[in-house]
Amino acid sequence: MLAPQQAEIINQTKTYVQQTLAHAEGGHDWWHIHRVWGNAKLIAKGEQANHFVIELAALLHDIADAKFHGGDEEVGPATAGAWLQSLDVDAETVTHVQQIIRHMSFKASFGQVAFTSKEMQIVQDADRLDAIGAIGIARAFSYGGFKGRAFYDPATPPNLNLTKDEYKNTTAPTINHFYEKLLLLKDKMNTATGEQIAQQRHDYMLQFLNQFYAEWNGER
Ligand code: ADP
Ligand code: NI
Repeated sequence: MLAPQQAEIINQTKTYVQQTLAHAEGGHDWWHIHRVWGNAKLIAKGEQANHFVIELAALLHDIADAKFHGGDEEVGPATAGAWLQSLDVDAETVTHVQQIIRHMSFKASFGQVAFTSKEMQIVQDADRLDAIGAIGIARAFSYGGFKGRAFYDPATPPNLNLTKDEYKNTTAPTINHFYEKLLLLKDKMNTATGEQIAQQRHDYMLQFLNQFYAEWNGER
């Protein structure tokens, strides 16, 4: 449970993030944060963990995406840190939230695990859940449309050996992204609750793909 003072800080952070991301692109807008925050609270329920850190990290995890800051991975942690310090949040909490933001991206998970904590695992699961299931499908086609990609081409098979930057910049059709990333996320979940939710969303994507191919082939 959060102390009243902590709840107030969460509330102020929510407003700050909502305003900062007012004009953000669809995949990382306020509603992405809102969903990840909700997922994080759901996973954290009943867990022995620092719920204040979890909620702050969920709210601030995409505050300054490196993609829009010349690839500088430190802008996010620095922005989050400055905000929390302005609210007199204690140094230990600030550092922990910054560590989570720094090490959380899918990209970072390809490398060595330099930092981990229960709180980080929960927020990372929460973010991954938003990339799969019905929302994940919507985000993938939205991203693909934004990049002007075909949604499917039977002559272009998925590339299962894409490296961290390649999967995002591939010009391959959006359906390939399911095999290159989305269907792999289920096996990367950190928590039991996250895994359960991921399994259900994973099955939903498989069902979607089956239906997609059936319709593509004029079967039903
Ligand atoms: P994250 O915030 O987890 O780092 P990304 O920035 O990699 O996520 O991607 C944002 C959204 O765009 C995700 O839902 C992801 O699945 C989707 N996306 C990323 N690359 C592609 C792609 N090549 N084709 C379709 N969707 C993509
Ligand atoms: Ni995110």
